[in-house]
Amino acid sequence: MDAASTKKPQATQKYVAVETWGCQMNVIDSENMLAVLSPEYKFTEDVDQCDLIILNTCHIREKAYHKVITRLGSLRVLQKKTRLRVVVAGCVAQAEGKMLSALGGIDVVVGPGRLVELPQLLRKAAGTSQTQLALGFPSSTIKAPFRSPSPKKTSPTDNLEHYASRHVHHGKNPVSRFLTIQKGCDNFCTFCVVPHTRGKEISYPPQKVMAGIRRYLALGAKEICLLGQNVNSYGLDLVRAGDLSASEHGPFYDLLSQICQMDENFRLRFTTSNPHDLSRGVAQLFSQHSRLGRYYHLPVQSGSDDILRAMKRKVTRSEYLDKVSLLKESGDDMAISTDIIVGFPGETEADFEATCELVRKVRFSFIYAFAYSPRKKTPASRFADQIPEELKKKRLHTLFDIQQKITLAHHQQEVGQYREVLMLYESKKEKDAYYGRTEHFRLVKVRQKPGEPSLAGQTIGVKIHKASLVCLEGTRT
Ligand code: 5AD
Ligand code: SF4
Repeated sequence: MDAASTKKPQATQKYVAVETWGCQMNVIDSENMLAVLSPEYKFTEDVDQCDLIILNTCHIREKAYHKVITRLGSLRVLQKKTRLRVVVAGCVAQAEGKMLSALGGIDVVVGPGRLVELPQLLRKAAGTSQTQLALGFPSSTIKAPFRSPSPKKTSPTDNLEHYASRHVHHGKNPVSRFLTIQKGCDNFCTFCVVPHTRGKEISYPPQKVMAGIRRYLALGAKEICLLGQNVNSYGLDLVRAGDLSASEHGPFYDLLSQICQMDENFRLRFTTSNPHDLSRGVAQLFSQHSRLGRYYHLPVQSGSDDILRAMKRKVTRSEYLDKVSLLKESGDDMAISTDIIVGFPGETEADFEATCELVRKVRFSFIYAFAYSPRKKTPASRFADQIPEELKKKRLHTLFDIQQKITLAHHQQEVGQYREVLMLYESKKEKDAYYGRTEHFRLVKVRQKPGEPSLAGQTIGVKIHKASLVCLEGTRT
């Protein structure tokens, strides 16, 4: 945690708080915003003490807009007492920006493509009651921080600075850091709002990725998680533009290989993958480099071919299972997790049963499962045969019941095993308890010995002695 969060704010120093909803993209966007606002604003966790609050919103599922309105309503009370400035950022800002700016009481509404403009936007908003609106993607004359002081022409990748990697971490976990390698998505799955709010796929050039990793390592990171909506298609845009040449295995494989060859001691993860683009080369890297661990997140969304087709997922059920087999070629212990949507328009009992059957067959280590939520602008929101909410809920519960038994069984199999655990953070609730992850990405609680320094950042040998649905517990070997 940043020292500023424990210090009492002084009159001259301005403080910023941030509330982050949604995916890891938003986590890193929040870090980037804090970085571009510093040193003018220091980070604080205390909303009552801050001068500026950023609501970094998520639009991927239901009730996003209402959630923002409710939070803005509760901030009004604070705004009456102090001159609290308010920024609404993220995908709700992008999707509902005009409606938000009409509400009043918001200084800036900024979409995910224009975060670096935040300092200028706040300056423009000062002293006016008008909301500054910055949606869409960068204009050609943005003065970005950490660059030359004069405004200059920019290309799409000029604005892809890893601002966060130039700063100490503001959250609970400086050991594990996210690094964006790709923005946007070109896939247009019929349920998904991301291509509409985050735009086209744009990859960060490998040199920028490598430089970002080195900066994070210099700040003490022990795990780097590469982020993109569809990391397996990383760099294809650069190849198409003639800015990168790639091996026969493709630019994502090349990037991973390069990172795996670094001498420093750290773990490497990435998320998220579209199974369509997962190549044999990338799968094989898991048997060659222990740095990558034994875990892969591979969203399937449904086990029914009819639904997969309606979702425009580009893979069939059997092609998905082939990708799972590809990953398991590096060893049957490979832990695989997934995303599933239940209640997609037209989903029959038989379609849903096909999803349950796939879950039982693959035996995922865990799943993220969601009730389908119609999103504006997406084709699926206009499909006939929308499923009633009650039925979606019922199916979701059925699926969770199936998966919980599988997750618990995986965890119970861990009892008695010796695992290498990268310790990540201290428990907020229990004294002397720390949490870390095994190379299979399973959460493990370990107790610190009396007088021992913080375990965060250490990789330690642990014998697992207890398992629950949520986590494992172990003793140090
Ligand atoms: N409704 C429900 N879940 C969705 N997701 C994306 N869009 C929707 C939607 N409209 C889920 C998908 C995706 C994850 C990040 O969120 O499972 O993989
Ligand atoms: Fe959305 Fe599909 Fe792109 Fe994932 S791959 S971000 S689900 S459109």
